[in-house]
Amino acid sequence: MAANENAAFFIGRFKMIQVAIIGASGYTGAEAIEILLRHPEAELAYLTALPEECGNVAEVFSRFKGRCSLDIEPLDMDKLTSKAQVVLCCLPHKVSMGFVPKLLDAGLKVIDFSADYRLKDVSVYEKYYQKHTDTENLKHAVYGLCELYRDKIKGAKLIANPGCFPTGCVLGVAPLLKNGLIAPSIIVNAVTGSSGAGKNPSVNFHFPNMNENFFAYGIGNHRHQPEMEQIAGEIADENIDILFQPHVGAFDIGILSTIYCEPKEKITAEKLGQLYKDFYKNEQFVQVLGSAPKLKDIAKTNYCQIYPAVCKNKIVVFSAIDNLIKGASGQAIQNMNIMYGFDETAGLL
Ligand SMILES: NC(=O)c1ccc[n+]([C@@H]2O[C@H](COP(=O)([O-])OP(=O)(O)OC[C@H]3O[C@@H](n4cnc5c(N)ncnc54)[C@H](OP(=O)(O)O)[C@@H]3O)[C@@H](O)[C@H]2O)c1
Repeated sequence: MAANENAAFFIGRFKMIQVAIIGASGYTGAEAIEILLRHPEAELAYLTALPEECGNVAEVFSRFKGRCSLDIEPLDMDKLTSKAQVVLCCLPHKVSMGFVPKLLDAGLKVIDFSADYRLKDVSVYEKYYQKHTDTENLKHAVYGLCELYRDKIKGAKLIANPGCFPTGCVLGVAPLLKNGLIAPSIIVNAVTGSSGAGKNPSVNFHFPNMNENFFAYGIGNHRHQPEMEQIAGEIADENIDILFQPHVGAFDIGILSTIYCEPKEKITAEKLGQLYKDFYKNEQFVQVLGSAPKLKDIAKTNYCQIYPAVCKNKIVVFSAIDNLIKGASGQAIQNMNIMYGFDETAGLL
């Protein structure tokens, strides 16, 4: 390499944001690697997992053979702080808040995928999860639903990346809530594919039970219900009661939500469609359709597709996302892009 090429190479490298992934051996970790490999302004710097899952990334995930030569290593904090500026924390809830305070104390920015920093009311978190051990950082965490919290995300050090069901649901009803058009009581029926539960199969999500099957779960007590209520309430500026019923179907990817709302006043389908188009007119990743969205159309993309309809005298909104992309890793990179002032679509189209 000639000297000036060398300099350009190093200036180029210097400008790239260095990103670490903790929990890189999981489903969301793999999707984050995929996106970062094509990101023009950010570079994978350090991948970590539990010792038994470590090794060359192309051995852990053969899809990266020939495309990524990094190793997934056991976490070493000194290495992490010397190599990265921002960390994607792809760990399960409860585990995450054991790591996040150390990462923030080391001066790193953190985008956390778990539920540990999403619920502002500690008593609600503790009812649905366990005792919260990092309430100090919880106070400063910014909920990373990009389309609605962009201004806060810009200056954040800790992002609570939203849950997958709340992402689809809240984007689906935000135009109605923001404009005060519906009664404060919503019903959400949603179906997810089996990747929503992560890579370790449980009895319910194990192949023989899932294959050619479809069933409801988390009846009356799913953990995403209070998260949806918190964010919907913030957008509407009043308490919103949400009855959320998840189902799981025999497919890998995607969440389709059907959301039933009571309009305060009669609205035509045309006016409703226009309201949604206006609300999302500047959003790159929310697409308002004139017919029902289909999961195959949004699989492997960061798009949320929405169709608001008037059925009898109700508003029924259909919303579709890829749970691993817009519902997790894609939204995390979208957050990172906002935090660093990159084009919001970088790596995501
Ligand atoms: N799946 C989704 O659709 C989705 C959507 C939105 C948000 N999320 C959230 O994103 C996070 C990751 O989900 P996922 O689906 O990627 O889960 P996953 O496939 O189970 O991966 C979890 C990762 O965390 C690692 N891990 C587990 N316990 C650990 C510990 N005690 N110490 C260090 N590492 C540990 C796992 O290591 P091993 O490889 O050794 O198990 C794995 O790398 C979760 O908080 C989840 O709720 C998931």
